[in-house]
Amino acid sequence: MKTYLETTKNVYKEAALTPDVGLCCTTTPVWQLPELSIPTKMLQMNYGCGSTVHPRDLINNPTILYVGVGGGMELLQFSYFSRRKGGVIGLDVVDEMINACNENMQDAEKENAWFDKSFINVRKGDALCLPVEDNSIDVAAQNCLFNIFSHADLKKALKEMYRVLKPHGRLVLSDPVAEKMPEQLKVDETLRALCLSGSLPLKEYIKMITDVGFGTVEIRAKRPYRVLSPEHYNTNELIFIESVEVCAIKDPMPEDGPCVFTGKSAIYYGSEEFFDDTKGHTLLLNQPLAICDKTAEALVELNRDDINISDSTFFYDGGGCC
Ligand SMILES: C[S@@+](CC[C@H](N)C(=O)[O-])C[C@H]1O[C@@H](n2cnc3c(N)ncnc32)[C@H](O)[C@@H]1O
Repeated sequence: MKTYLETTKNVYKEAALTPDVGLCCTTTPVWQLPELSIPTKMLQMNYGCGSTVHPRDLINNPTILYVGVGGGMELLQFSYFSRRKGGVIGLDVVDEMINACNENMQDAEKENAWFDKSFINVRKGDALCLPVEDNSIDVAAQNCLFNIFSHADLKKALKEMYRVLKPHGRLVLSDPVAEKMPEQLKVDETLRALCLSGSLPLKEYIKMITDVGFGTVEIRAKRPYRVLSPEHYNTNELIFIESVEVCAIKDPMPEDGPCVFTGKSAIYYGSEEFFDDTKGHTLLLNQPLAICDKTAEALVELNRDDINISDSTFFYDGGGCC
């Protein structure tokens, strides 16, 4: 096994045996839902850098796969929306983490009248070789794990997620991203395992996702995450890291490339009742239309003075043009 994967396992063995409050912490609020109670230890073991639980993805009792279970908080939140035996499958490579997660589920059962441990099936499994059938999953998720992987392993992990998803299934990811990362930090295995130095620039991260075949991508959130400063890290300059929440949908790849929604909208304010770009987008007079970046670029190229294209908000979770 590659040494950085071994280091990662050791880091998370420790984090399973002793909760490390603040590891991967962000400003993302923890879901508050009617009759959902998160046990204290499970909350202390929230090692995610965003949320991958989005109610809009979770209609019709989906089968959910969650890779890299941590203390199980998101598994419990997912099972809130899929209340049936084995509705949520959790995989992890660290035995101690699997045990801690199962223990936390026992506490969750005591605190949540609606919850039955059998809703969740936690077992050993590696993100790089998923023990899951092809085309069998509606929603797959990983939170703050894939950023740890090397380029080749990230590609493998994304391909695996793509393989197990049903057509139009959704992969929900949360990871840190950074526009630059010094080489000496990238190769520091412990920093990588702690989700501090494996981050890619956002565009590169999205390209890796679309390169495995996902035809639609939504960027749902982008938040400040960490600053690596010369005072505390082996760097000459400040390194700013953000965390993102992304949903990749196993839609067919459009002929002209993927639709990536970063939160841009178009508004037509000309003298007609609407503007039709003849490519499937009708802009009604003074009504915003959410558009993907590809469409935004095409509209900008028209060079019109009666269409406003907004900047990316990086908060997009619905609507759309493609
Ligand atoms: C940063 S923690 C995130 C935990 C959880 N997703 C959360 O949000 O709290 C990374 C998790 O991935 C697990 N892990 C590490 N390498 C893995 C691999 N190759 N396959 C599956 N899980 C892995 C760790 O044991 C740990 O539970």
